[in-house]
Amino acid sequence: MKIELEVNGQPRTAEVSPWARLLDVLREDLRLTGTKEGCGEGECGACSVLLDGEVVNACIVAAGQCHGRRVVTVEGLARGEVLHAVQRALVACGGAQCGICTPGIAVCAAHVIDRKLLAGKPVAEARAAVRELLAGNICRCTGYQLIVDAVLVAVDEVGDS
Ligand code: FES
Ligand code: FES
Repeated sequence: MKIELEVNGQPRTAEVSPWARLLDVLREDLRLTGTKEGCGEGECGACSVLLDGEVVNACIVAAGQCHGRRVVTVEGLARGEVLHAVQRALVACGGAQCGICTPGIAVCAAHVIDRKLLAGKPVAEARAAVRELLAGNICRCTGYQLIVDAVLVAVDEVGDS
């Protein structure tokens, strides 16, 4: 089937099986390889993207479900040459090591920040909330501390707390 969708603000089309995974449509048909595959079973969050503004695991979303919908991938977080605050903070804080989890973490954390889900929370509460909000994103390298630090730095930068 032919699907038409908006990806990172651009209209895109793809001729795919309705049962193709959104992850494969993004990586193979649309050549947006920033989105990574970890488990392939909806458990690790490496493939996180936004679908109509909500976080989904692209490995368990069928292409046929995406016709007419909006997708944002890690490639869509930056504004031109300027990375999203959380992308800059992940780099600055050392919150990325092997990088497999990083695009999914960046998408989810940007969603948390842009939706102002931590607004007004004291630091200790915000730290706990970040861990909870990113609980679906598994990282085997960093131990999470530097990722949480990065999210809090980004929140601070954009003025949410
Ligand atoms: S690859 Fe999609 S959740 Fe792990
Ligand atoms: S940086 Fe390697 S899995 Fe997170």
